[in-house]
Amino acid sequence: MPIPASFEGRLKVPAIAAPMFLTSGPDLVVEACLNGVIGTFPALNQRSTEGFVEWLEEIEGRLAGQDAAPYGVNLIVHRSNPRLEADLEQVVKHKVPLVITSLGAVPELVKAVHSYGGLVFHDVINRRHAEKAAEAGVDGIIAVSAGAGGHAGNMSPFALVQEIRQVFDGTVILAGSISTGAQVAAARLMGADLAYLGTRFLATKESMVQPEYKAMVRDTRVADIVYTSKVSGVNANFLRPSVDAAGLDLDSTEAHAGLDMENEAKAWKSVWSAGHGVGAIDDEPSAAELCQRLSSEYREAMHKACNDEFGQ
Ligand SMILES: Cc1cc2nc3c(=O)[nH]c(=O)nc-3n(C[C@H](O)[C@H](O)[C@H](O)COP(=O)(O)O)c2cc1C
Repeated sequence: MPIPASFEGRLKVPAIAAPMFLTSGPDLVVEACLNGVIGTFPALNQRSTEGFVEWLEEIEGRLAGQDAAPYGVNLIVHRSNPRLEADLEQVVKHKVPLVITSLGAVPELVKAVHSYGGLVFHDVINRRHAEKAAEAGVDGIIAVSAGAGGHAGNMSPFALVQEIRQVFDGTVILAGSISTGAQVAAARLMGADLAYLGTRFLATKESMVQPEYKAMVRDTRVADIVYTSKVSGVNANFLRPSVDAAGLDLDSTEAHAGLDMENEAKAWKSVWSAGHGVGAIDDEPSAAELCQRLSSEYREAMHKACNDEFGQ
């Protein structure tokens, strides 16, 4: 299945600005949407459900009557997230167009979002999780491949998209080190419908992280990214200089027992996450500039692909 019908004609490039803890807020979401990219944020970026509702109202207000891409909210479906029920209630009340779930794929949640015409995309790092998500009735599966920022997988994007396509005929979204419009085009050519970009949006003017973090994203390369479960209990990619600055010795540090949202919140404040895509990033544009650039790079790459000498 291609891009959902409710998104048609509203995107300038087939891409989502992925939800990022401590990073994405209303400014990033609104600027992405106004420039033809689906903007998203994690509900937990606000400290309470009341704060989450304030952001929903602000985003809805700023996008009202505009020619804009839909926006989305990320919900962490895990027992250590005590806000899930209350946040979901607000998602339904506000008819959030896109809900991105992480960790648990739950049929009841999918039903609740479908009740008002919303869509659910779920992120996975392997085929087994994709099968479970498909069973839960999600509309889209996000293939989080090796090299993605945040909780990344360890599979090649080529292998993962292919295997997910074998078990799912909904929308497939590819994540992992996508930083340019040509890479968005490559994701489409290899079988994904949409691309999912996190790290690239970390280094934008509207991203809420501190200037030192953005500078580190600009200054580092793939060799500076470390994949470890020892920061929070779940395998994720982090910027090595931030691990060193926090005084963490990964060789001697004991791994945490498993995922716990409280651990995550603490850990991610001092150790900064980013994916292998950092090597392609050396500036800090506004989100609007970035989306426009992605769109023109995408068109150029697709034009080249159509005229490829081996494709004739
Ligand atoms: C700093 C940071 C924070 C993130 N926080 C979340 C989050 O709260 N929820 C979520 O579903 N994914 C989160 N992610 C993962 C992204 O949504 C996305 O899957 C990933 O960034 C895509 O790979 P890329 O960074 O290589 O573009 C985070 C990623 C980064 C870099």
